[in-house]
Amino acid sequence: MRFTCFSHRITRWAGAAAALAAVCLLSGCVWFDGPQSTFDPAGPVARDQLRIFYVTCWVTLVIFLVVGSVLAYAMIRFRARSDADEHAAPPEQGHGNPMVEVGLIGASIFALVIIAVPTLKGIWYSYDVPEDEKANAYEITATGYQWWFKFEYPGETAQTTDMTGKPASAPLTTGNELVIPAGRPVRINLRTVDVIHSFWIPKLAGKVDMIPNRANHLWVEADKPGYFWGQCAEFCGESHAVMRFRVVALGPREFNDWLSAQMAPARRVEAGQGQPRAQFAAYRTFRQNEAGYTDAFDASPLDGWRRQQKPEEAEDAALIAKGRALFGSKTCSSCHTIRGDGAVGVTGPELTHAGARTTIAGGLLENNRDELHRWIHNPGAVKPGNKMWVNGYLLNNIKLTPEDEDALVSYLRSLR
Ligand code: CUA
Repeated sequence: MRFTCFSHRITRWAGAAAALAAVCLLSGCVWFDGPQSTFDPAGPVARDQLRIFYVTCWVTLVIFLVVGSVLAYAMIRFRARSDADEHAAPPEQGHGNPMVEVGLIGASIFALVIIAVPTLKGIWYSYDVPEDEKANAYEITATGYQWWFKFEYPGETAQTTDMTGKPASAPLTTGNELVIPAGRPVRINLRTVDVIHSFWIPKLAGKVDMIPNRANHLWVEADKPGYFWGQCAEFCGESHAVMRFRVVALGPREFNDWLSAQMAPARRVEAGQGQPRAQFAAYRTFRQNEAGYTDAFDASPLDGWRRQQKPEEAEDAALIAKGRALFGSKTCSSCHTIRGDGAVGVTGPELTHAGARTTIAGGLLENNRDELHRWIHNPGAVKPGNKMWVNGYLLNNIKLTPEDEDALVSYLRSLR
């Protein structure tokens, strides 16, 4: 009898421990330095938000310890020790003690104030760039699409050509990879063209929703150059979980280099020309056990990104030219913009310098030849329900031969 009771208790404790471990695992608490860990902030906004989290944790821990100790004391001190205790008449009942009640109310208010002060300060701080730094802030507009992010640089004017081929200019637009200056506040306007999305760069700032017809914004600052993971954090349809992006923070000079490379129209690779001018790298997006994973960018993602800015050693000009022609004839150009190459669509991501990005398909796939192949071969299998598959391939009955795919991949790879 005694033994059964004991083993029963052991089972219960083991169950509780397993549940706790599962909660920790599911909440991601065990990966304190993971690519999307909020416990490893890389900028002042994320650091302030982590500080509020810790203040709240400490206050609740103290409450837990005080209440838990009093409870444990009462349970041990007043437990039934004999048969007589078990059947004893209940003691005289009290009806409240003014001192204890006032004390508890006072302690509760005190605990709430301790949490409220840094919380309110944090809300004000994270709302917008501090006044004294406003003049130095850089502005970018991020727009959510099902299921990728567009980034516009309203202060930068890029070179392009109009429908007739004449030179023109337009605000710089990119997609899926947000390049920001490090050590400088960046104000990000948040927009959406379809449903509610939520913009989240865990290491730089908490999430803020992108809501139709509402002009939200947030600000971030990266302490130093680095490579960060971003994620849509609001359920927005079947491929919500794979609506991701990357953030590349660069020092001032490198950021300017990147800007001037981006301003230029799409690169042209002509037969017989030597190594082409470098306009200005790929990072793993898959976990180690997933198909498509390479470890090429694990050690130093930022260096991987830098390598990606340079054109490939061997480029086949004829194949690239064929890819450029296919991009128009297969109607890719009606949804994507490639400045200078006559593609002016705005439904899908801007691709003028797509080859220089580390990821494709909304931050889902590493940007290398194999993954690009896999993506354009069957986008529906990679990102269920996406427009390129449904509205593009299926509605327009687009068929690509393996040779077509090869040419398109070479063309997109050349766009650096
Ligand atoms: Cu966009 Cu979830």
